[in-house]
Amino acid sequence: MMTTSTNGKHGMNTRLAHGGHDPQSFHGFVNPPVVHASTVLFPNADVMRRGAQKYTYGTHGTPTSDALAAVIDDLEGTAGTLLVPSGLAAVTVPLLAFLSSGDYVLITDSVYRPTRRFADTVLKRLGVTVTYYDPLIGGGINALIQANTKVVFTESPGSNTFEIQDIPAIAAAAHQAGAVVMMDNTWATPLYFRSVEHGVDVVIHAATKYPAGHSDVLLGTISATQPHFAKLEETYTALGMCAGPDDAYQTFRGMRTMGVRLEHHRKSALEIAQWLEDQAGVAQVLHPALESHPTHDLWKRDFTGSTGVFSIVLDGGSTAQADAFLDALQIFALGYSWGGFESLAVPVFLEDRTVAKGDYAGPVIRLQIGLEDVEDLKADLLGALAAAKSV
Ligand SMILES: Cc1ncc(COP(=O)(O)O)c(C=O)c1O
Repeated sequence: MMTTSTNGKHGMNTRLAHGGHDPQSFHGFVNPPVVHASTVLFPNADVMRRGAQKYTYGTHGTPTSDALAAVIDDLEGTAGTLLVPSGLAAVTVPLLAFLSSGDYVLITDSVYRPTRRFADTVLKRLGVTVTYYDPLIGGGINALIQANTKVVFTESPGSNTFEIQDIPAIAAAAHQAGAVVMMDNTWATPLYFRSVEHGVDVVIHAATKYPAGHSDVLLGTISATQPHFAKLEETYTALGMCAGPDDAYQTFRGMRTMGVRLEHHRKSALEIAQWLEDQAGVAQVLHPALESHPTHDLWKRDFTGSTGVFSIVLDGGSTAQADAFLDALQIFALGYSWGGFESLAVPVFLEDRTVAKGDYAGPVIRLQIGLEDVEDLKADLLGALAAAKSV
């Protein structure tokens, strides 16, 4: 499943359009085949005993999974990419691969909630000590690193509150101590944050979001640099992990248009975020590309774009106001996930945070800005703000 970087000299959209598949390798068809496979046949006993052919069994890779992995490696600059059935599995598999009983892991307190649940249940049960750190800690993470710290887990921006982490500073401290740096890079995608260039060793994507892009596929990808790929792949193979060929293909297909979709999400979300800053009833907009965001400078330094998910803080009120806002929405729907074509809203829950609790003026609501017309979305949000005010 090891793939090689194909064409680093071209721009991102060219690489998205052409990466991962050589049409001449499959009768000239511009798309890769969708290979449904468990059994792969060998020509004779000797080849079988030595496993001396490219494909040996469905769980160990197919031309379809290789095509997607190659695109991601090319964009991320990683040595190998593995596919798993969900974004959450893309978080749990590398943590299992790099942590053992007696180890210590540092996880950002702004992490995706199910990552925290995995750490607080499975990792703790396996004898791993878990500490959550302030996402704004930067190089100060040095003070938390111990001799047995094996992994520093980052997510930037953080889920729901969108703090940008100083990944280069965190990576420098972690590497000095011999710890592996993992990053959930789902929000920015490799188009807007080049994680390996900033010091990340293992890159995680919920490909469910922008890569697949249509709210109909669950898939995760785990990519690693050369020194770390073998260890990652060992645990992946031992666990029997793999992803279905149709999901891999749909994600590959989604990536062909991801650049165009992301640009639309970026523009619409930024316009709406800026506009929301001036609307009555909104105390704060948590979007790292806004100058008002506390970590805007880090975003400007390290990121080349922003995507379609951010949060707003209502100006006072409680659950009743938040529910009135959410229930009044007509185009935005209430549903989890993001990265699809449609706008979504969810109430944000921060009660399980340990250090980055935030001191927000009112309820926090996360918005995913879809591909609809911006004026329609603004009108919908105005109606929701009026509903929240009238409670
Ligand atoms: C930052 C982040 N990572 C991982 C995931 C998990 O992805 P999936 O829904 O495919 O399990 C999500 C899902 O919302 C997410 O927001």
